[in-house]
Amino acid sequence: MNNFQKKPAEVETEQEQEQKKDKKSVYQSVRGMHDILPDETPYWRKTRHAFEEVSDFYGFSEIVTPIVEQADLFIKAVGQTSDIVEKEMYYLKQKSGSHSLVLRPENTASIVRAYAEHGMRRSVQHPVRLSYFGQFFRHERPQRGRYRQFWQAGLEIISNETDPIYDAQIILATYRFLEKLKLSGMLIRINSIGSLECRKQYIKKLKAFFKNDIKKLTTDQKKKLETNPLRLLDSKDENVQALLKGAPVILDCLSVPAKKHFTKTLELLDELQIPYILDHSLVRGLDYYTDTVFEVVLEQPAVAEPVPGEEPKEVIPPLSLGGGGRYDPLFKQFNLRDTAGVGAALGLERVIQALIEQQKIKPRVLKNPVFFVHIGDLAKKKSLPIIESLRNEKITIVETLGKGSLSSQLAAANKCNAVLALIYGQKEAFEESIIIRDMQTGAQETIPLSKMVKIIKKRLE
Ligand code: HAM
Repeated sequence: MNNFQKKPAEVETEQEQEQKKDKKSVYQSVRGMHDILPDETPYWRKTRHAFEEVSDFYGFSEIVTPIVEQADLFIKAVGQTSDIVEKEMYYLKQKSGSHSLVLRPENTASIVRAYAEHGMRRSVQHPVRLSYFGQFFRHERPQRGRYRQFWQAGLEIISNETDPIYDAQIILATYRFLEKLKLSGMLIRINSIGSLECRKQYIKKLKAFFKNDIKKLTTDQKKKLETNPLRLLDSKDENVQALLKGAPVILDCLSVPAKKHFTKTLELLDELQIPYILDHSLVRGLDYYTDTVFEVVLEQPAVAEPVPGEEPKEVIPPLSLGGGGRYDPLFKQFNLRDTAGVGAALGLERVIQALIEQQKIKPRVLKNPVFFVHIGDLAKKKSLPIIESLRNEKITIVETLGKGSLSSQLAAANKCNAVLALIYGQKEAFEESIIIRDMQTGAQETIPLSKMVKIIKKRLE
């Protein structure tokens, strides 16, 4: 464990707890908004690199949209009755006192806004494939895998026609990205929620189905049945799930074109041998979707039998690593005719948590570090150009030039598992030489500076 790792409370010393108290009394990160410490950034870098490789491979170009957008954009696009708009948007108070701006809660609406604003419909060859990697904000109750500021990596395909080939391409690229990270146990849950007209028919049937059981619903659930009844389907409430047994299934209400679109999408996934499960309860929480909707989850690990006398372990339901779907109606809001879109976004905190738990990325370990030790002011002054020349030769140099004493520098050399130490003092500075020390045997030798790189490279071989 090094300086950056967060230690579990039980291994903290009293002094550390005191220091923590001191820290607490100053500032802490805002609830639900977390630091990514240097121990974790290698995972983030690898994830970003894998995402960029996959999006380049499938012909996506990166787009960067602002973090602040008009609130109205999301109210119209994501839906007035969605949780995101109803409860989770961060409104900014402007100098004028108005609250018309928000921190973006997602990116699909922003991308359609940018597509319309920059006239991409005319200026860019279609389909337009766009990728993004950025931070989003939702005022949710923080818990494992759920933050108020979080990262998403996303892919969108905007085309002139609604073709299931694009639905399949989005799912393919999403799946390959997670595969590239060597994540195991991924499962795609997929459903079709049909066209707006199919949904109207289905909602009528669903409301009729609940008619006799309305009293069994909570006030919140009754409100949901009125304003956004599809969200009852993926309710976590056991009572609702029990009531839903025998409820009409949305797939039975699909129009002929919607059915055809979905069947074709599944056929394309079969052709690609991408595993999926049909999930009638999957509706997603954003209003802009039509036809295909999907989520990527991790298969639940088998739950161990409770040990007699011990509290049974809490089973945390799997969180979606990502999700997406088709959003053709969104373009009509921007007066864009004959334009269709499909996309997906992955929640990167969840992906990285899974990678860490599955130990799929090894933390970065310095390869053959060489520690540079200086003694005295003259040596210190002359050390930076020497270190620079070693780094230019791709020799991994570690130093603590701020520390004065030889013993503290050698202790730091031991701590970072240096194989060699270079010792540079006043005498060496005058003689243009340097001492090279084998950290394992302790053997030392003075060598001319001019031969230093060659000798180090030979020793490191
Ligand atoms: P979403 O399902 O709201 O979809 O978010 C996508 C993913 O972002 C989720 O599956 C989850 O992994 C992650 N996520 C969402 N909220 C949080 C949170 N509070 N903390 C941590 N992770 C979170 C969208 O955002 C759509 N724009 C996806 C899309 C793209 N649809 C079409 N194109």
